[in-house]
Amino acid sequence: MTEQEMTEPVYVLENVRRVFDASGRSPVVAVDNLSLTLEKGARLGIVGESGSGKSTLIRMMAALDRPTSGTIRFHGRPIEGLPERRLGFLRAKVQMVFQDPRSSLNPRMTVGDIICEPLRSRLLRTRSDIPTDRGARLAKVLDAVGLPADSGKRYPHEFSGGQRQRIAIARALAPSPEVLIADEPVSALDVSVRAQVLNLLDHLVDDFGLTLVFVSHDLMVVRHICNEVLVMRRGKVEEAGPTEHVYAAPAAAYTAELLAAVPRIRLD
Ligand SMILES: Nc1ncnc2c1ncn2[C@@H]1O[C@H](COP(=O)(O)OP(=O)(O)O)[C@@H](O)[C@H]1O
Ligand SMILES: [Mg+2]
Repeated sequence: MTEQEMTEPVYVLENVRRVFDASGRSPVVAVDNLSLTLEKGARLGIVGESGSGKSTLIRMMAALDRPTSGTIRFHGRPIEGLPERRLGFLRAKVQMVFQDPRSSLNPRMTVGDIICEPLRSRLLRTRSDIPTDRGARLAKVLDAVGLPADSGKRYPHEFSGGQRQRIAIARALAPSPEVLIADEPVSALDVSVRAQVLNLLDHLVDDFGLTLVFVSHDLMVVRHICNEVLVMRRGKVEEAGPTEHVYAAPAAAYTAELLAAVPRIRLD
């Protein structure tokens, strides 16, 4: 990446739209002319009720899905039209953690192979900023997420739900990413371990100097971990701003409704 590109915001999205065609029914506008800027070091929370387009939005940011229209720039470079072989500059730098570690970890692979898998991508082999010593990297990220050093030889089913999500986080950290995008990372976990995993994420963002995009339907979780919040509704930005401002004095009636509904939302 050039010096000029490093000074650009991490992401600039302009009028991003994603329409899903449903056969026989009217198309679903999952993300509707959405624009946002994400600066380096930001901790952005994306909240909104189920179906508001959160996952679709971040999947496009991670180039796992493509906008129907609009532009997504990563450090100034448009990504939305690029074929996979030209996305190497983004692939290592942007890593995701998904909601359910059960389905995101291959049960037939050892934890060590799972965690090191992102390091093996052909696209990344020529990159000098990707860690190449697999053993050392594995040891470092296992330690960072608080798993025993010998975990690499074991299989996912030998771990609890909370530990599996730590494995998923370790895998995301392995290629030394700049951006971590977490999609409801604690929603599938037992209530008793949610706080531990959240605190871990909170510390890792600082320790690894990450830019964080954190998706949740739980507004209190976002308040704890993010300094900016974007409230989505029906694919659009309902409200965005510093977390403290938005929570103390929501500008949108919808945000106020979500806040008022917190106890109910927290239970689902
Ligand atoms: N692959 C898909 N095909 C068709 N519709 C989809 C697809 N993914 C998401 N949608 C629809 O887009 C809307 C937004 O979904 P999603 O981004 O998953 O919302 P959220 O993550 O906020 O719950 C929903 O109406 C959902 O049904
Ligand atoms: Mg979702």
